[in-house]
Amino acid sequence: MRISVIGCGYLGAVHAACMADLGHEVVGIDVDPRKIDMLSSGHAPFFEPGLPEALRRALDSGRLRFSTDPADAAGSQVHFVAVGTPQTAGSDAADLTYVDAAVQGLLPHLADGDLVVGKSTVPVGTASRLADLVRASSGAELAWNPEFLREGFAVADTVAPDRFVYGVPSGDAGERATAVLDEVYATALATGTPRLVTGYATAELVKVSANAFLATKISFINAMAEIAEATGADVTQLADAIGHDARIGRRLLNAGLGFGGGCLPKDIRAFRARSRELGLESLDFLADVDAVNLRRRDRVVDLVGEMLDEVRGARIAVLGVAFKPDSDDVRDSPALDVARRLHAAGADVVVHDPEANETAARLAPDLGYVDDVPSALRGAELVLVLTEWKQFKALRPAEVAALVSSRRIVDARNVFDPAEWREAGFEFRGLGRP
Ligand code: UDX
Repeated sequence: MRISVIGCGYLGAVHAACMADLGHEVVGIDVDPRKIDMLSSGHAPFFEPGLPEALRRALDSGRLRFSTDPADAAGSQVHFVAVGTPQTAGSDAADLTYVDAAVQGLLPHLADGDLVVGKSTVPVGTASRLADLVRASSGAELAWNPEFLREGFAVADTVAPDRFVYGVPSGDAGERATAVLDEVYATALATGTPRLVTGYATAELVKVSANAFLATKISFINAMAEIAEATGADVTQLADAIGHDARIGRRLLNAGLGFGGGCLPKDIRAFRARSRELGLESLDFLADVDAVNLRRRDRVVDLVGEMLDEVRGARIAVLGVAFKPDSDDVRDSPALDVARRLHAAGADVVVHDPEANETAARLAPDLGYVDDVPSALRGAELVLVLTEWKQFKALRPAEVAALVSSRRIVDARNVFDPAEWREAGFEFRGLGRP
């Protein structure tokens, strides 16, 4: 199929590369010429395992190209809208500026029978409004096909997702849209990937409710961490024990510094704001989910204060600033937030992240950044593990002890065995465990 992808960020760049890799003719369109130059020359503008390889294969096949000109969408049968929906400044609601601009920009280039497919995460009601717009000015139709990809696994999640959700209009138009999407996703569907066909509102809600559920699960275990801290219990054992119940499951039950990134925080806020617009209090609990999550950052900053006589002037090694491992994304990163707060309190913060030093330095240029773990550890009075990169998990007490000036460590992702560090003479603190 001939496909255009509007917006080449985390979502769109991966979608464009994977669709071309699967055999479609794809043009990726973005307003940012720097991004388009990088992608055209086979370079991913952000760190995502497997993406450079998928890009290279797709570019070499001649089926993938990139452009800054919206007119290059003309001639495609399917137009994916994959632009961002960030949090609006000064409010919790989603900012739809980019989605609206992307659809407006497409209108002059749509032909009869084309299908516009929204992938961005939007407040419920958006698809129906945009469908009216598309129909009023062209013979095209609109479907909503939310994306569930996780950063770090974006290529695998795009090529072989858990499920497809198609939000389509009723009647013949919906059947035609379904048939088009089935052709786009034929490879994954052939392997038995479930596909659910719904109305627009359900499809929009599937995405935000999935993220609200995941965020709630993480905050649930972090609330248990608070209880554990007050009672001497160990939240990691608690998570293992309740996780054996198949109805609960162990995934997403890692207590620690909490969730961040470009999706969960802003999506739960926008979802609650939307429910309030609808006159409902149903999602007010998401404010607590958010609050529990943010309190974990306070807890780590407080722990540092407890462990050091004086934070001002103390040399602190920060291992990890990405919001999670295998990503260079620092959007709403709990790790970067903690590092910045310690810097603001006067600490001499030295950061090492295997991939996110550069992205973090753009947001927080005042922190010290170093290229390897030993340079971060050397002379540190306290070590903070804030992102669970595998190279940090592999650290052993002896090698850390040989470099630091004082043996103090906060394991804010609960990746270490406390006994091993304490035996090596470390003052060791985790989150939600003695
Ligand atoms: C998430 C959803 O998983 C994905 O389906 C959606 O499309 C976009 O948002 P992502 O932001 O890439 O994806 O990250 P995810 O792997 O879900 O982790 C989110 C955050 O939760 C990270 O900050 C991570 O460190 C944290 N987390 C995750 C925990 O604190 N504990 C856990 O047990 C799991």
